[in-house]
Amino acid sequence: MKVSYLLSKEIASRMPLVHPPEPRKDLLLSGPSQGVYIGKTRFMHTPVFWNPSKLINPHIGIIGITGSGKSYTVKTFLTRASLIWNTNAIILDWVGEYENWVRQAGGKVINLARERLNVLDLVGLPKNNRIKQIISTFDILADLKSYPNERDEIEEALEEVYQSTAAQKKKPTLFDVVKILEGKNKKKAARLLKRFTVEGSDFFAGTSTLDIKELTTSGLVCIDLHELPTEEVRSLAGLTILQYIKELMRAEGMKKDNKSIRLFVVLDEAWKIAQDERSDVITIVREGRKYNFALIIATQNPTDMHKTIFSNTGSIFILRLVLREFRDYVRNSIGYSRFVDDEIGRFGVGDAAVNMIFAERQSRVMTFLMDKIDGEEPLLIYKIKVDDMNLEIEREQFVRLLYEFGLNEGQLNILKAAFEKGDGTLDGEQLVSVLEKFGYSKPSIISFLRQLGVDEKTLIRVFSLVKMRKASKGVVNVVLEAQSGVQ
Ligand SMILES: Nc1ncnc2c1ncn2[C@@H]1O[C@H](COP(=O)(O)OP(=O)(O)OP(=O)(O)O)[C@@H](O)[C@H]1O
Ligand SMILES: [Mg+2]
Repeated sequence: MKVSYLLSKEIASRMPLVHPPEPRKDLLLSGPSQGVYIGKTRFMHTPVFWNPSKLINPHIGIIGITGSGKSYTVKTFLTRASLIWNTNAIILDWVGEYENWVRQAGGKVINLARERLNVLDLVGLPKNNRIKQIISTFDILADLKSYPNERDEIEEALEEVYQSTAAQKKKPTLFDVVKILEGKNKKKAARLLKRFTVEGSDFFAGTSTLDIKELTTSGLVCIDLHELPTEEVRSLAGLTILQYIKELMRAEGMKKDNKSIRLFVVLDEAWKIAQDERSDVITIVREGRKYNFALIIATQNPTDMHKTIFSNTGSIFILRLVLREFRDYVRNSIGYSRFVDDEIGRFGVGDAAVNMIFAERQSRVMTFLMDKIDGEEPLLIYKIKVDDMNLEIEREQFVRLLYEFGLNEGQLNILKAAFEKGDGTLDGEQLVSVLEKFGYSKPSIISFLRQLGVDEKTLIRVFSLVKMRKASKGVVNVVLEAQSGVQ
């Protein structure tokens, strides 16, 4: 009672304007060797340190539209955590966007498309446990639950393969499992697994060339999944590697010194495996501190994250979100005020609302607004202006998106010059006019602007401004000329 009285008095004296409450300072502040500095709160400017010993668990969720700063936040965490605690990190890179950074930072990049990872490896687990994990993986990826008979047959074949190969002193692979099923004329069950053994998709069927255990202590490691042929194969890779890491970390047991983080595992854009309730991602988050490593899950689409992740993750960073559906999903899952939700819709690059679940349950404030995540790189921002609204986008990101959109070097330069002329700001309708001049159709410009995070209302406004400008061009000129004539 007394504390909250003092606090509210302090807040009142420092903030003449009403603003949403922020967590107590002692929960946010830590010594530089105890926590990762991430920036300052928006209203009280309290430095925010991510200190896992103050949180219910060390797991982190990051959501936001493309270009909002998810990967940047991940990189900031990994860089600083490695300086403080000498942490190792394994990044499961779905789209291949960490490769350069990891190389520059002196880390190791592994292109999984050139490796083999045997899903039947036991990684120290009793074989029955591993069989359960494999079956649950195929439940998620091959929808095995819909084929209960084949599910049983595959389970039996897995049991058999461990026995028969143990007798021959060799390691079983998926090829052996398919062979057993075919030998028993279980054609449908064999077919369900065969998509992971055909040439080009057989990354999980041979003898492993990767030593996951070694990778958990190898500093910064990027496992690049983007050259794998399908989303399904990428998901199988992600899930399998995560299961191995989980088992290895469990086997090591909890360290007494629970304050520092020894390994980060990053899943960036891990759609399917963070969505399914049976996935190990959910187990890890739910079981909190048990595994001695921290999971960082980042995604553009919050509905890819199961609600359990939102309610159990120690820290969630909500960066810019535009779609109503996504914003409602996150707000309902976390539960913050409409004010915070409105701000999230207005965020620029790197702005964040942070939800932290502190170990000390007295803390009632869990979601607060931050200034930009305070990372290492300078921020070169372009602004697209519509009426009195500014959409911020980081310059390099914007240029990349324009390039992907199909602009050539000359066109990029024209557009860059237009921004530079306005000191980094360009009117939305001017941007549309330039793109139209380059030959882009209205629908393709609309989808490009949506990708930048322009909401529907603003889109309509921009196009009505373009229309007005076109319709009134002659008129405006005439009026202006007439006016100057009068003077
Ligand atoms: N807090 C920040 N401070 C400075 N620069 C930032 C910040 N956040 C992001 N940026 C810059 O903005 C650009 C886009 O950020 P980033 O690549 O992290 O976006 P993202 O959310 O991961 O996008 P995508 O979903 O497309 O992967 C990058 O060039 C990055 O350097
Ligand atoms: Mg990214």
